[in-house]
Amino acid sequence: MSTFKAPKGTYDLIPPVSETFLAVREALAAPLRRAGYGYVETPGFESVELFARGVGESTDIVTKEMYAFTTKGGDELALRPEGTASVLRAALEANLHKAGNLPVKLWYSGSYYRYERPQKGRYRHFSQVGAEAIGAEDPALDAELIILAVDAYKSLGLRTFRLLLNSLGDKECRPVYRAALQDFLRGLDLDDDTRRRIDINPLRVLDDKREAVQKQLTGAPMMRDHLCEACKTYHEQVRELLTAAGVEFEDDPKLVRGLDYYTRTTFEFVHDGLGSQSAVGGGGRYDGLSEMIGGPELPSVGWALGVDRTVLALEAEGVELHVPASTQVFTVALGEEARRTLFGVVTELRRAGVPTDFAFGGKGLKNAMKSANRSGARYAIVAGERDLAEGGVQLKDLQSGEQAPVALGEIVAELRRKLV
Ligand code: HAM
Repeated sequence: MSTFKAPKGTYDLIPPVSETFLAVREALAAPLRRAGYGYVETPGFESVELFARGVGESTDIVTKEMYAFTTKGGDELALRPEGTASVLRAALEANLHKAGNLPVKLWYSGSYYRYERPQKGRYRHFSQVGAEAIGAEDPALDAELIILAVDAYKSLGLRTFRLLLNSLGDKECRPVYRAALQDFLRGLDLDDDTRRRIDINPLRVLDDKREAVQKQLTGAPMMRDHLCEACKTYHEQVRELLTAAGVEFEDDPKLVRGLDYYTRTTFEFVHDGLGSQSAVGGGGRYDGLSEMIGGPELPSVGWALGVDRTVLALEAEGVELHVPASTQVFTVALGEEARRTLFGVVTELRRAGVPTDFAFGGKGLKNAMKSANRSGARYAIVAGERDLAEGGVQLKDLQSGEQAPVALGEIVAELRRKLV
């Protein structure tokens, strides 16, 4: 073991779990690619100011969890804690919204960083697959994204996730509600920290996990009862479209998200097999974010699904993904000349599209066959000097144990035939 370990709150992805990770990322993205979302990739760091303005000065993410630093050149940067602000920044910078084709639909996949207290399912470096639909106010767009997330989870075989749905109102009705909530909260018996929160982010108090606080919240005004007509109608349409698509959801009037940019539709996917870090994904509409970061009015909606937690959810449900063995043919050469010849065959097979590996390091037959079995390959090619002198190799079916000679010139074609 080396003296170094992965930093606190991080872990390495190593085979075979790393293969599951890749498969999960692909499965989460597949429905997006079928729905007209284009791939976007932005830098791993951005100006601190982008997140402060975008995610919100009062959020835990910005005040406590950002990996912020000053570069040697004096720039104030932060490792990205989330993707939405960056993707919107990139779309605005490239003027995608001016190409006359709204909404701009983008998807992404990558690493995000939050200085959180690590525990199972909560890491300082984690992975998300996300989607943003920029520049359209249309309940069908909110519904589309939610349906795509549901389809992504289902395609992986997840069964027991739940969708929580809420509306946070808009710039008309939210301020009125906020004031009503503040009035209510000021009358409660709360500690100093929570009192301060009443001024800066009262909605977050609804999300307080402590029982003593939750008890006092009975009878608190709810956004649901304060929605303006436009928000009410919008939300009702989203709900109808989801129902028509066979998507089950639970109305959760207390659902508040940890980012400040949300308006109207907000949602979270939770999995009950994960303990306290149960959110496997979340998102919502953010109609004011573009203006908050200096852009034009561009009502938008999006989500991000956590790859780490989706993998944990699959484990919790005992779902094993079918990840094809990375090696289909394993080649064992005995003796120098055979090694030279068979190494050529390995390259030829790979170029023909057959995933192939080779017994490196001059192992003896017994060890080499062990490696062949461990590789997960279906076939082994085995040959020594004598086989080659006779113009052939032995082809062994590692499942049945059957073995037969095949002419050297035929082996590539024969394996391609067998493996299709
Ligand atoms: P978020 O809810 O902060 O939303 O993160 C989305 C998902 O990322 C969470 O549901 C969770 O699965 C995963 N996640 C977050 N933090 C951690 C962590 N410390 N360790 C492991 N997994 C984590 C956003 O990030 C928004 N940008 C989503 C969005 C896109 N809203 C609109 N567009």
